[in-house]
Amino acid sequence: MFSESVRCLVVVGAQWGDEGKGKLVDVLAEQATIVARYQGGANAGHTVLVGEEEFILHLIPSGILYPRTRCLLGNGVVVDPWTLAEEMEGLRGRGIDLGGRLGLSKRAHLVMPYHRVLDQAQESSRDSENKIGTTGRGIGPAYRDKVARVGLRVGDLADDQRTREVVEAACHAANGTLERLGDERADPEAAMEQLDSVRAMLLDLATDTGHELRTGLAAGGRVLLEGAQGALLDIDHGTYPYVTSSSTTAGGAAAGVGIGPTLIDEVLGVVKAYTTRVGNGPLPTELTGGEADRLRHLGGEFGATTGRPRRPGWFDANVVRYAGGVNGLTSLAVTKLDVLDSFEEIRLATGYEFEGDAIGPFPDSVELLERVTPVYATHEGWQTSTTGCRSWEELPGQARSYLRRVEAESAVPIRYVSVGAARRETIRLGAGGVGIRT
Ligand code: GDP
Ligand code: IMO
Ligand code: MG
Repeated sequence: MFSESVRCLVVVGAQWGDEGKGKLVDVLAEQATIVARYQGGANAGHTVLVGEEEFILHLIPSGILYPRTRCLLGNGVVVDPWTLAEEMEGLRGRGIDLGGRLGLSKRAHLVMPYHRVLDQAQESSRDSENKIGTTGRGIGPAYRDKVARVGLRVGDLADDQRTREVVEAACHAANGTLERLGDERADPEAAMEQLDSVRAMLLDLATDTGHELRTGLAAGGRVLLEGAQGALLDIDHGTYPYVTSSSTTAGGAAAGVGIGPTLIDEVLGVVKAYTTRVGNGPLPTELTGGEADRLRHLGGEFGATTGRPRRPGWFDANVVRYAGGVNGLTSLAVTKLDVLDSFEEIRLATGYEFEGDAIGPFPDSVELLERVTPVYATHEGWQTSTTGCRSWEELPGQARSYLRRVEAESAVPIRYVSVGAARRETIRLGAGGVGIRT
């Protein structure tokens, strides 16, 4: 995917997260000099399988498993220092050398213990219809402090007085809310003490990640920007309010690392060959009962961060077409095709109807999205294993026909097809997509 003319590539989720971004980033990172996360925090769970070993990364970019790749957490990420410390320890314990390979933006905001407490207390206080189903990782409250200009940034830790002032003010504000919600309270002294255990580590990693990326690109380096979550969870473009609190789409990538959008050459959208969602909110092609259990079981659809069962549904081309537009996708990677191997029939939604009329642009209201009826196309299943396929030609005819339909309805060329979790279980196609293939 990288070439003389492609130096900077963004990988985004083009559904509701968990599309297999970790796997794709790992596959592509082999050719990258720098891999950077640009938004989100430890709400992400990116799974990478290397040989028999499975790694689940929450904060550290999925490029870390190659020995020479430099991995950065950009200014747009909200960093839970204790999760980061645990993740670093875990990787070191498994023989991954992190020496000089990890950098953290001084402008990145910290997720503090009181953000987690607030997140969980706010979720518990909502009645069941209004719960967002957050990961409970403190993401919303941390971004709220950032936008309200009262957050604590990595660079602040060098100044003890400033750190204390921010923490005290934040705890005071948090307690205003917590007093209404329950028994837990934010304690500034405890927070300061907890920070003591990670301050040196954070300052050691702290750097100007934007400067590093700009100079790296100017020197001919290859940069991969790794998105977390997915387009439909984007704070602006997703199914608000059932979204996360950051700009997950490609537009957020430039701002989240500190480069200009003109430096981005390609945007790869990752999609499953079906759909899943974890947490609440509309999912028009959602399956229920036995069909849902079957897809969940075959796809191992349980959250990598919270272990919650994911809600499965058929592929929804309305969603991917929309994600293609809001991200400016230049190509697609379709993952987990093998999960559909045993199905007799496979459906995909090509449009939506509401009260008998076709719906035009993707609905901006969740109330409407809850009520649309998907218009389905039905494809014959291939009912044979695709996991061993390594080329387009080796895929069964019905699978090729399904993928051609996915591409045509999504209006984005397919560049990769993933047929298993392992690196080698990946079919690489040319830039033209599958529509031109027989
Ligand atoms: P991410 O958050 O987008 O990185 O995705 P997750 O890691 O949360 O979920 C994707 C899951 O699917 C992981 O367990 C991957 O190992 C697995 N996976 C990725 N690609 C494939 C594939 O093509 N086939 C199968 N069977 N599993 C895959
Ligand atoms: P990756 O990067 C899937 C969902 C949560 C919830 C909503 C808001 O692995 O694809 P938050 O904790 O962010 O405030 O929760 O967003 N969510 C994800 N769903 N994959 C993720 O990350 C997610 N990160 C958050 O389930 O519905
Ligand atoms: Mg995930």
